[in-house]
Amino acid sequence: MLAYTYKSDGNFELTQKPKPQIIDPQDAIIRVTMSSICTSDLHIKHGSVPKAVQGITVGHEMVGIVEEIGADVKNVKVGDRVTVNVETFCGECFFCKNGFVNNCSDKNGGWALGCRIDGGQAEYVRVPYANQGLNKIPDSVSDEQALFVGDILATGFWAARISEIKQNDTVLIIGAGPTGICTLLCVMLKNPQKIIVCEKDEVRRNFIKRYYPNVIVTEPESCLDVVNKESEHGGADVVLEVAGTEETFKTAWQAARPNAIVTVVALYDKPMTLPLPDMYGKNLTFKTGGVDGCDCEEILSLIEQGKIDTTPLITHKFPLKDIEKAYEIFENRRENVIKIAITNE
Ligand SMILES: NC(=O)c1ccc[n+]([C@@H]2O[C@H](COP(=O)([O-])OP(=O)(O)OC[C@H]3O[C@@H](n4cnc5c(N)ncnc54)[C@H](O)[C@@H]3O)[C@@H](O)[C@H]2O)c1
Ligand SMILES: [Zn+2]
Ligand SMILES: [Zn+2]
Repeated sequence: MLAYTYKSDGNFELTQKPKPQIIDPQDAIIRVTMSSICTSDLHIKHGSVPKAVQGITVGHEMVGIVEEIGADVKNVKVGDRVTVNVETFCGECFFCKNGFVNNCSDKNGGWALGCRIDGGQAEYVRVPYANQGLNKIPDSVSDEQALFVGDILATGFWAARISEIKQNDTVLIIGAGPTGICTLLCVMLKNPQKIIVCEKDEVRRNFIKRYYPNVIVTEPESCLDVVNKESEHGGADVVLEVAGTEETFKTAWQAARPNAIVTVVALYDKPMTLPLPDMYGKNLTFKTGGVDGCDCEEILSLIEQGKIDTTPLITHKFPLKDIEKAYEIFENRRENVIKIAITNE
C-alpha cells in the first residue's frame, strides 16, 4: 500500500509498505478514506518532535472504514465508518479513569499514531486500543464533517471545556489557524457574551469575519485596546492562546483581567517566561497541556445536530498519490490554505 513516510529530518517520502496487520486483540485495521495534514506533521518533518521515529508512516487525523478487528474489540464492527483518535489510551490506568487520557501510562499511551507507530497518511492504518481510539460516525455525518474530530476539533473542545467559560464572559482567542478556529467553534457552544479573535494574517481574519460574523476580529497591534474596550473589568475573563509565539504568550496574560483563566493550547519551540513581578496582583489561573481527546462521541453528536461544522476549513483536496503537492501548499500556506483533505477513493 501507499504510505507517506518520515525518512529523515526534513524529508518525508511516499513509499510502498505492506498492509498493516492485527498484532494485539485490541487492534483494529482501518481502511483510510480521508486524512489530513496537521502542523504537528510539519514539526516531525523538521525534527522538532524528539519522540518521532524515523521510518514511520505519518498522519494522525483520519477517518475510515473498519476492515478487520481483534478478538477484544467490541466498540466497533467490520464495515463501520469511524473517526480515529490522535491519542492512544488504555482506558484502565489512573489517568484514563480520570479523563486525563493524554497522560495514559501505557507504553503506547498519548500521541503515538503517526509519531511513534505508523499513522494514517496511507491506505490502511492499525489502531491500537481500538475500543477507545475509534468512534462510529453517525450515518448522516460525512467524512468531511468528521475529519477533524480526533485531533484539532478534540483539541478545541477540550480547550473550551477546561476554560470554565460563563455566559457573561468576554473570551479572547489568540490565533485563528485550524486549531484556533476549532477552538472558536467550541467556545461558541458555551454562548459567552463576546468572543474576540486576534489573528495576524489578514486572510485568516477575513475567514473569521466571513463565516462567524458575530465574532469581534482584531489584529495583534490593536488587540489590547480592543479587549479593554469590549470587556467590563479591564480585560478578558478567559483567554485561549492558540498561536504559539513569544508575543502571543505575552498578550495572553496581558489581555486577561485579574482572576481570569488563561488556557495555553499552543506549543512553543522554546521555553516561555512568566514575569511574575509584572503579573503581581493579577491572580491568574494558567491551564496548559496536551489535548485529552476523550470527548469524540459527544463531538460527533454535536456535528450530527448541526451545532459544529468544520467543513469550511477544508480549502483543498488531493488524492494520496499527490500528497507531496499538498504538503508543499500547506507548509508554505499557499493559496489561502487552511486544511487539506487527502482522499483515498
Ligand atoms: N495542546 C494540544 O494538544 C495541541 C493540539 C493541536 C495543536 N496545538 C498547537 O496549537 C497551535 C495552533 O495550531 P494550528 O494548527 O492552528 O497552527 P497555525 O500555525 O496554523 O496557527 C497559528 C496561528 O497564529 C497566528 N499568529 C501568529 N502570530 C500571531 C500574533 N502575534 N497574533 C495573533 N495571531 C498570530 C498565525 O497567523 C496562525 O494563523 C500550535 O502551537 C499547535 O502546536 C496544540
Ligand atoms: Zn495534529
Ligand atoms: Zn491509560
